Amino acid sequence: MTTVVSLINMKGGVGKSTLTFNLAWSLAWKNDLRVLAVDLDPQANLSQYFLGAREYVNVLDNPDQKTIVDIFEQYSAPSAIVGSPTRLTPSDAIHELRNWGDGSRLHLVPSRLELSWTLKNPTEKSELLPVFIAQIESEYDVILIDCAPTESILTTAAYRASRYVFVPVRPEFLATIGLPLLARSLEDFRRMHQNHRLDMGGIIFNGLRRSNTPPEQRTSQEDVRRVAAQQQWPVFENVAHHSDSYATGSRAGSPIFLTPYARTYVADEFAMVANEFLQAIGR
Ligand SMILES: Nc1ncnc2c1ncn2[C@@H]1O[C@H](COP(=O)(O)OP(=O)(O)O)[C@@H](O)[C@H]1O
Ligand SMILES: [Mg+2]
Repeated sequence: MTTVVSLINMKGGVGKSTLTFNLAWSLAWKNDLRVLAVDLDPQANLSQYFLGAREYVNVLDNPDQKTIVDIFEQYSAPSAIVGSPTRLTPSDAIHELRNWGDGSRLHLVPSRLELSWTLKNPTEKSELLPVFIAQIESEYDVILIDCAPTESILTTAAYRASRYVFVPVRPEFLATIGLPLLARSLEDFRRMHQNHRLDMGGIIFNGLRRSNTPPEQRTSQEDVRRVAAQQQWPVFENVAHHSDSYATGSRAGSPIFLTPYARTYVADEFAMVANEFLQAIGR
């Protein structure tokens, strides 16, 4: 059974891509799971975290490497023979990131800025992501979708493909603003897709100061907990605290537990978050 999960928050810069990146690595490396990470943000940060800036450009320059854009635009791009729809071979959109001796199990569907085009012509495209995932899901145990921070056709596509959503939250000023929007967006989706089961996996606090926690972080955390309680959304017990090693690691394409000089307790703490995540998806 494959579990498809979206990491989402209507607010940007909260750690969606950082958590997706580290969770994907962690589940593949430590839990031997076959993991596909799907970059569903035109900003393509997740793709850059995985590949590094230079390799990302190489991947984009390779005409054989398809991306998330091709998944959404496969029928609208002009094809060689007039009148015949361009059909994507699903494996062409998958980039193999890591091959361990016992098999290849960390893969990425990269994104590129042209994905914003899909937002301009959204008609009926949201079904194309679940169709793509249905074609390849037997190859994976977990599929993680990193969402863009705005409500759009891409959000609907992510919901349609997912069984759970998880919400990274940075406890800071206005941390709660995205949450009512998200609640409304989920509610809307459920009303329109009553046969689709989509559950809230939980809120994951990210970037909290470990010591000398500023008062506004505490207040903000309480505000978020209050909204979560109203919505009956679970909140993770484990927290990914602030650590510059997350940024250093992402720049170097390495997860927190393989980042040189990252403190052991930072890596250990992330491992707890990853374990809680696995429990939440019933693994
Ligand atoms: N726990 C953390 N500690 C320190 N920096 C972090 C942490 N999580 C994320 N960051 C940094 O914050 C910025 C935004 O994170 P990102 O994951 O790209 O957010 P989002 O995908 O929600 O927009 C990045 O520069 C990232 O390296
Ligand atoms: Mg992001």
